[in-house]
Amino acid sequence: MNRPSIEHCVFLDKQDPLRELKDLFQLPPGVIYLDGNSLGALPKATKERITNAIENEWGIELIRSWNSSGWFDLPRNVGDKIARLIGAKAGEVVATDTTSVNLYKVLSCAMSIAESDTPNKKKVISELSNFPTDLYIAQSLCKERGFELVLVDVEEQDLSSHLTDDVAVLMLTHVNYRTGAMHHMQKVSELAKSKGVLTIWDLAHSAGAVPVDVHQVNADFAVGCGYKYLNGGPGAPAFVWVNPCHVGRFWQPLAGWWGHDKPFSFSPDYTPSADITRFQCGTQPILSLIGLDCGIDIYLKAQEFGGMDAIRSKSVALTELFIHLVQERLSPYGISVVSPLNADERGSQVSLVAKERAYEIVQALIQRGVIGDYRAGAGVNQPDILRFGFTPLYLSFVDVWQAIEQFDLVMKNEEWKDSRFVHKSSVT
Ligand SMILES: Cc1ncc(COP(=O)(O)O)c(C=O)c1O
Repeated sequence: MNRPSIEHCVFLDKQDPLRELKDLFQLPPGVIYLDGNSLGALPKATKERITNAIENEWGIELIRSWNSSGWFDLPRNVGDKIARLIGAKAGEVVATDTTSVNLYKVLSCAMSIAESDTPNKKKVISELSNFPTDLYIAQSLCKERGFELVLVDVEEQDLSSHLTDDVAVLMLTHVNYRTGAMHHMQKVSELAKSKGVLTIWDLAHSAGAVPVDVHQVNADFAVGCGYKYLNGGPGAPAFVWVNPCHVGRFWQPLAGWWGHDKPFSFSPDYTPSADITRFQCGTQPILSLIGLDCGIDIYLKAQEFGGMDAIRSKSVALTELFIHLVQERLSPYGISVVSPLNADERGSQVSLVAKERAYEIVQALIQRGVIGDYRAGAGVNQPDILRFGFTPLYLSFVDVWQAIEQFDLVMKNEEWKDSRFVHKSSVT
């Protein structure tokens, strides 16, 4: 990379095919938002759509809105839009519940498939560094169903050596929440298939951030988040995709009335719907789904400007610029990059480590209007991390430049030493 300058960043912004999309978000003045990997920014359309849903659809239409405003079909319709971001087809994705709950459903189905087809396979493999909720769900299900959860460190040992004959399921997060390291989904899926292992992918940090094609890699199951890169709002519903070859095989364990083939027959007996809607459980949070719909509409709008390819190219360029500037300007203060330096191995996130006081540094940065976040480590192998997410829909190259200017000042003036920053809030 040429030595970057503010002028070069201005030039890159002028060339950026996605530049118009920033205007579709409401971003507070004076804030550079580098936390869209945790909670996406607010699309301007969301306020109007949700206000309309409250005042008119709920306030006036009342219960008629389940039909007349399309509420009942919303999880499926939003799912169809998400499908386009992950290489799935219409009718294969449903937006519902949380990532944790959806993981419970699909892991349970994967276990049922293994029990039926390969009863000698009793292990579930995941990563020690996976997001904790994934591991908690797997621990709970393994206990309940008599499987063994094995956590591996793929940085230390090749994944292949762990996929022994007794492994039923490989459950991975595509882009790691701490480091932003990205698995090669195609190679890992092929390896798993060759060993007769079912794959479950958590796409929480992938959907909308990096190109994904669940059919091309022949994945078995995928889940993901609505409130991160999809900009659905706090607590927005998650999504679930199941390879059509598995959908009809088993009930998912949370067989609620919204997953019934004919929910309004009010039959005492459960008959699951034939398609992905069987992965719904109870009544869906319509206002949150409307928020998610607005967030995803911006991705559909991005199709006009190059779609996921343009988003990925810009994401790589933004993260490379950030990494370059960190190395050039912040390494004298003991700040270094822990995310993979090779863009092919990295999602849309860059994580840093500091010599000391990572939490306080993040707080001092937030005080200066640069919002990232902090993730506590666990010992020498897992240091405390400063996380920065790059959402190409609303971030510019000048934003990255200015974020580094502020970072430099925080370090130069030792602003992180301020006693205000010592107390940790409940959400870091
Ligand atoms: C990889 C990953 N999976 C799952 C979750 C949690 O999802 P939920 O709160 O929707 O269950 C997160 C949250 O940050 C995450 O990063």
